[in-house]
Amino acid sequence: MSQQHLQSVRGMNDILPDDAELWEHFEDIVRDWLRSYGYRPIRMPIVEHTPLFKRAIGEVTDIVEKEMYSFEDALNGEHLTLRPEGTASCVRAAIQHGLLHAGGQRLYYHGPMFRHERPQKGRYRQFHQIGVEALNFAGPDIDAELILMCARLWDDLGIQDVELQLNSLGSSEERARHRSALIEYLEGHRDILDEDARRRLYTNPLRILDTKNPALQEMVEAAPRLYDYLGSESLEHFEGVQRVLRDAGVPYRINHRLVRGLDYYNRTVFEWVTTKLGAQGTICAGGRYDTLVELLGGRPAPAAGFAIGIERLLALWQESGGQAESRAPDVYVVASGAEAQRMAFRAAEALRGYGFAVLMHCGGGSFKSQMKKADASGAQLAVIIGDDEAAAGEVGLKPLRGPGAQQRVALDALADAVVETLFKEDEEDNGAL
Ligand code: HAM
Repeated sequence: MSQQHLQSVRGMNDILPDDAELWEHFEDIVRDWLRSYGYRPIRMPIVEHTPLFKRAIGEVTDIVEKEMYSFEDALNGEHLTLRPEGTASCVRAAIQHGLLHAGGQRLYYHGPMFRHERPQKGRYRQFHQIGVEALNFAGPDIDAELILMCARLWDDLGIQDVELQLNSLGSSEERARHRSALIEYLEGHRDILDEDARRRLYTNPLRILDTKNPALQEMVEAAPRLYDYLGSESLEHFEGVQRVLRDAGVPYRINHRLVRGLDYYNRTVFEWVTTKLGAQGTICAGGRYDTLVELLGGRPAPAAGFAIGIERLLALWQESGGQAESRAPDVYVVASGAEAQRMAFRAAEALRGYGFAVLMHCGGGSFKSQMKKADASGAQLAVIIGDDEAAAGEVGLKPLRGPGAQQRVALDALADAVVETLFKEDEEDNGAL
């Protein structure tokens, strides 16, 4: 095996403890946030049958054409894919288990997604999303709720500098009429189209409007706008969403060129974009997908949702001062001598029984070196046990942060003494304020 094969796969990253603690802190905040809007968790497998994604996301999309990790199961020949996103799986699960019979379902999931993209800052081959899906809801109220939810999360995290971009993709009939006009317009500019645009001209012309090629900007700016093809129902729906946003004081910008890279959307689509992360500035994206349930074999049910890119949001959160919560233990236990060691285990377990976080020194060493570790651990208190203490059935208790002298307490009285010492320090802290 070459050295190269002992490294992680390109674009798939380890999340080391300093970062993983930030992730966990973030996940705690997110769980409370989702509960406060009545969303319930669902967990789907990471691998699905390949046709699920082809059908849901669309055959002529970047994801399906060139980014999926698809393989044949060597044991039974099934065509499988590592999920590139969660909406298709979530809808599949809801249909398969009859969740939609129970009316509206507010669901969320989180976990890794896989896309074979060119890795760069904010773009990975394994990345993580929090996905939120509201199934069986037709009105603009749920679209607006989904957007307000996002705004509240940014607020909870202390994040500013994200812009909400909004658009309506109308219905499939409205898109079809716009599509004909768009193709005609693009055909008139065929000589300046790049390779990508030519390839998409008859398969997915709407995506050409999303091009990043500077040479095409002027041409796409002047292209027929889907907005001008929307009928009264689509316009009313769009206005309904905007009304709630205006009432709630959530600023937005209508971006007529916002089309999304997945085919299942109709009507409302939105993205939250920051300029603080460089090229990969979309931290959250979603919209309405009223035909997907039926497309995947369910009874027609309207729906909408979004997904947050966790790596991107966390990068932005850190820029705004987001930090992991302190994980320092309450107590560090040091011991020297065979009897003392045995007592140390009893002391540590007893304290954990009271709910304290206890780091037990393992690996021996002198008292001095153990105390250095105790100090470096960030613990508030050290429990110190030598042969003397062990013989007397007592332990030493030493504050490591604040004032206070070392005291000796009976092992049975240790938990009470710890409570008292920590509590007293809290009171002194408060008194100082
Ligand atoms: P998406 O726009 O493909 O939508 O992805 C949503 C978010 O995931 C992006 O805005 C971005 O923050 C993050 N993301 C996507 N690709 C990568 C990558 N390669 N590396 C890092 N982050 C990435 C969806 O996936 C839809 N399922 C969203 C949705 C849910 N629509 C309705 N319900």
